[in-house]
Amino acid sequence: MNNDVPQDKSLDNSLALYQEGYQFIQNRMEKYQSDLFEARLLGQNAVCISGEEAAELFYNTELFRREGAVPKRIQKSLFGVGGVQTLDGKQHDHRKKLFLSMMTPLEEKKLGELVLEKWTERLDQWELAEHIVLFDEAKEVLCRTVCQWAGVPLKEAEVAERADDFASMVDAFGAVGPRHWKGRRARTKAEEWVGSLIEDVRTGKLSAREGTPLHTIAFHKDLNGERLDTHTAAVELINVLRPTVVISVFITFEALALHEHPQYRTRLTTDEEREAFVQEVRRYYPFGPFLGARVKKDFTWRECDFKEGQLVLLDIYGTNHDEKEWEEPAQFRPERFQEGARSLFNFIPQGGGDPTTGHRCPGEGITVEMMKATLDFLVNQIEYEVPEQDLSFSLVKMPTLPASGFMMSQIRRKA
Ligand code: HEM
Repeated sequence: MNNDVPQDKSLDNSLALYQEGYQFIQNRMEKYQSDLFEARLLGQNAVCISGEEAAELFYNTELFRREGAVPKRIQKSLFGVGGVQTLDGKQHDHRKKLFLSMMTPLEEKKLGELVLEKWTERLDQWELAEHIVLFDEAKEVLCRTVCQWAGVPLKEAEVAERADDFASMVDAFGAVGPRHWKGRRARTKAEEWVGSLIEDVRTGKLSAREGTPLHTIAFHKDLNGERLDTHTAAVELINVLRPTVVISVFITFEALALHEHPQYRTRLTTDEEREAFVQEVRRYYPFGPFLGARVKKDFTWRECDFKEGQLVLLDIYGTNHDEKEWEEPAQFRPERFQEGARSLFNFIPQGGGDPTTGHRCPGEGITVEMMKATLDFLVNQIEYEVPEQDLSFSLVKMPTLPASGFMMSQIRRKA
């Protein structure tokens, strides 16, 4: 790396990363007054970049590859080995088409309607309960919803455990020790379960309706014309189930935003207003901290030489809070999404660029539809109290959540 690039002098910044969490990259960008710096993380050098132009660079597939970018410990907990996240070039394009074929606007709408149905089914029990914890409820509601939509059979007695396993895989990404190992065990268990469903569908022991993700992934053919091996098929079906269950994190922040900004309750009547609110929740609250890729061939950017093989980390949280892009980024202001078009690279809660050609999340439409349906449910279909509780969230722990999980009491249907 060019000597002009600010270099964090510490021998290893891993401890600082765990101490500063979501703000690790942003803190150093401010300190060095630069859009890039070099650090040593988990035993290797990494160049950290932030902002819209950095995101545009990061999604240039001529310059970056994903192979070798995701540490094994993250593959073994969060992503699974052999999934779409780690592929490049034609193999990636082909696998990505599989995901995009399942996530059409029609299917996204269906999921929005289904989740509303599932929320409503919980109301009888909620009306009798002293209080509920929204995050715990959301994990289960979303797990029932996505499994029904995906054609995955799920007994009611299994729901809590499966939902918890999907959440543990995600909870493992920023953790060392017990939280990390819990995520690994959850993945092994889920891969066994989903793998056996794939095999049963292939042998005809279990019937799956054509068009459901279970059927589509079980019979998908890779570029070599062969079906995915059972393990890879399981990893990819889990790549649909796990992130959908974990929209529960954004839903919990959505309820927090409503609670802290009650003036919006009367301003969520149109689809456009609800969408703007949801987008601001996805921008404002932290979820994914950063993304990694490796330099594919040497190039120079901002007078700095990037050498083949170099690990580069793109700051998600900092880009969504970049003062150059966002007026008063520390303010929660949904109107900003009605005022100006966002670019493919400045608003990146689920990655940037074009999802058809790069690694951007294919599940953004699902996320937005499910969050809009939930917002409608919280605002228009029920009334509730928010009892005294700790609603603070840490910017150090990754992933984070309001401490109480958002407790609600005296829940009743609106007349
Ligand atoms: C809480 C909501 C979600 C968040 C915060 C989220 C975030 C992300 C992020 C940051 C990426 C990485 C982008 C990159 O590597 O450049 C990603 C990729 C991905 N997401 Fe999501 N996601 C969410 C929901 C979903 C949903 C609902 C699905 C599927 C139903 C999904 C499926 C995927 C897949 C398959 C990839 C890999 C894409 C690729 O490598 O080409 N995600 N997501």
